[in-house]
Amino acid sequence: MNITPYTRIFITGCGGMLGKAVYEKFSAHCQVKATDIDINENWLEYADVRNYHATLKMAAEYSPDLIINLAALTDLEYCEKNPEESWKTNALGAENMAMISKKLKVPHVYISTAGIFDGEQEYYNDFDEPNPLSIYAKSKYYGEKYIHSKLERFFIFRAGWMMGGGIKKDKKFVNKIFKQIQAGNRTLYVVDDKLGTPTYTVNFADCMYQIVQTDLYGLYNMVCGGSCSRYDVAEEFVKLLGLENEIKIEIVDSGYFKTEYFAPRPASEKLVNLKLESRGINYMRDWRECLRDYAPLFKMALRTAAPREMVKEEAVTT
Ligand SMILES: NC(=O)c1ccc[n+]([C@@H]2O[C@H](COP(=O)([O-])OP(=O)(O)OC[C@H]3O[C@@H](n4cnc5c(N)ncnc54)[C@H](OP(=O)(O)O)[C@@H]3O)[C@@H](O)[C@H]2O)c1
Repeated sequence: MNITPYTRIFITGCGGMLGKAVYEKFSAHCQVKATDIDINENWLEYADVRNYHATLKMAAEYSPDLIINLAALTDLEYCEKNPEESWKTNALGAENMAMISKKLKVPHVYISTAGIFDGEQEYYNDFDEPNPLSIYAKSKYYGEKYIHSKLERFFIFRAGWMMGGGIKKDKKFVNKIFKQIQAGNRTLYVVDDKLGTPTYTVNFADCMYQIVQTDLYGLYNMVCGGSCSRYDVAEEFVKLLGLENEIKIEIVDSGYFKTEYFAPRPASEKLVNLKLESRGINYMRDWRECLRDYAPLFKMALRTAAPREMVKEEAVTT
């Protein structure tokens, strides 16, 4: 499929951290109908992936050339506490969007996660056997399996530790660290016993844009180069903010956060982009380079914000 200015792409769950980058990338080159249940941009329309009939009607009327499903509940603790809602959104929603793609005879894109592995080994390639531990991971893995078994023209891209979307949309580790710093916290408690591969949304969207234009359908690990621990990310981020002499990072183990972050997490969710690499289509960059691109907007926000009082030290793990 060649993307031209006339190509039409229907996206669900586009109001989140990845959606921002995907919308910006694709809408610069073609027509996009971007939807979400959270209408936080004027370019978004309402669509709920749990509602098969309404979403089918909307997609059919738009007559897309490609469907991208980004919709998910991504807060692991929320998923543990709300399993039914998680299965409906992450698993049934994935099934609904795959069925809609099949009905409309268009290729399908689904985003999965490095979190589907159990962490018993250090690195996972595209062919390693998943063994999801949490409700989030189980419901996402269901989506993978359904799409794999029912569709022919699909791309499943597995992301790692997502970073991107900026202060307003980033729900994950980098912004959690930033919020503590912004609140005046001068000591951060960060784990070094959780390993993974960061994935920058802007780089991921670029890579996705290029790969959906090939007919190399299938499942791909798609993470940034260079693996690390949560501590490494925090240390690099603090350095990029120019605060390495002001912020102290205390290493702790995951047990420190067992009440706050109670969902089971694999010790390692490091992915290797074996298939992308072998097919010569690995456009993912090193995570440190990507964080260097991402950090300046946080630095700017710190400069413009009024200094705040020191607040109670909080925990950060994910
Ligand atoms: N974030 C990560 O670390 C990570 C890692 C690996 C893979 N992924 C996958 O990447 C994809 C994009 O996630 P993201 O990182 O951009 O997370 P995100 O910021 O939470 O975005 C997901 C969006 O989907 C929306 N949504 C939730 N339920 C929906 C429904 N029933 N119908 C339509 N939209 C719905 C969310 O709205 P609300 O905010 O109102 O819930 C949110 O705007 C997901 O498939 C996710 O599983 C994420």
